[in-house]
Amino acid sequence: MKAVIIGASSGIGAALAEELSRRGYVLGLAARRTDMIMNELQPKLPSPSFAAFMDLLDIESSIEALHDLIGRLEGIDLLVINSGVSGRSPGMEREATENLIRINVLGFAGMLHEAYRIFQKQGHGHIVGVSSIASLLPHPNGSAYNASKAFVSNYLDSIRLRIRRRGENISVTDVLPGYVLTPMTEENKRMFWVADVEKAARQIADDIEKKRAVSYVSRRWRLVAWLLSLMPRGILNKIL
Ligand SMILES: NC(=O)c1ccc[n+]([C@@H]2O[C@H](COP(=O)([O-])OP(=O)(O)OC[C@H]3O[C@@H](n4cnc5c(N)ncnc54)[C@H](OP(=O)(O)O)[C@@H]3O)[C@@H](O)[C@H]2O)c1
Repeated sequence: MKAVIIGASSGIGAALAEELSRRGYVLGLAARRTDMIMNELQPKLPSPSFAAFMDLLDIESSIEALHDLIGRLEGIDLLVINSGVSGRSPGMEREATENLIRINVLGFAGMLHEAYRIFQKQGHGHIVGVSSIASLLPHPNGSAYNASKAFVSNYLDSIRLRIRRRGENISVTDVLPGYVLTPMTEENKRMFWVADVEKAARQIADDIEKKRAVSYVSRRWRLVAWLLSLMPRGILNKIL
């Protein structure tokens, strides 16, 4: 199997690269910090892999980098769009908000569109997007992040529906982590049910291989998601 992971330089993406490599996947690994991919990640991988610079702020060059990786892999079965930035923004600074939206929303959608086009053309493929349990909730200081993840999950659901209606042979998995200990969260002191990144990667890889529509990381967050789906919006907003 041949997979590209976008956002493979640290955290969940790097751990997933290690897990998929152990399972025999040949990997294309993309992010801005190619030094971390080449010096820290690739030496640990048992299967062949290729690295590419990608900055989702520049969608056209990211698409070029994706095609370059697919060329070096000589094909692609799976694309994982894992890149994301967080950002509590109590002051609602416009620049920070726009930057987050450009990466988490526009960058995500740009790569998803390209993957869908490639998989339609070749007649098969699997798209995985990394959203968050945050997609299910509003947040007073994380409005852009939570809304960006709501976009990711809703977009993946809609693409899956479209694919099913059209009878296309493409799978779509929406990954919803709760809290996973990574560079993104290491300074967050208010986390609970925190999964270590290796466990998270194992669960995500299992769910990818089962072609699950939704992957909760860790599994207990499925219950939270279910409870949230039952809760009237007015009550939820009062509790938060
Ligand atoms: N950790 C958690 O508890 C948690 C919970 C829910 C969801 N998530 C989601 O999981 C995903 C991975 O996060 P993480 O926790 O593993 O954090 P992380 O270690 O900070 O990883 C973020 C990844 O995104 C990449 N990225 C950031 N900006 C980018 C850009 N402009 N272009 C291309 N790649 C970019 C980073 O690579 P470079 O900086 O090298 O470009 C890095 O590989 C994110 O989408 C995050 O929202 C995490």
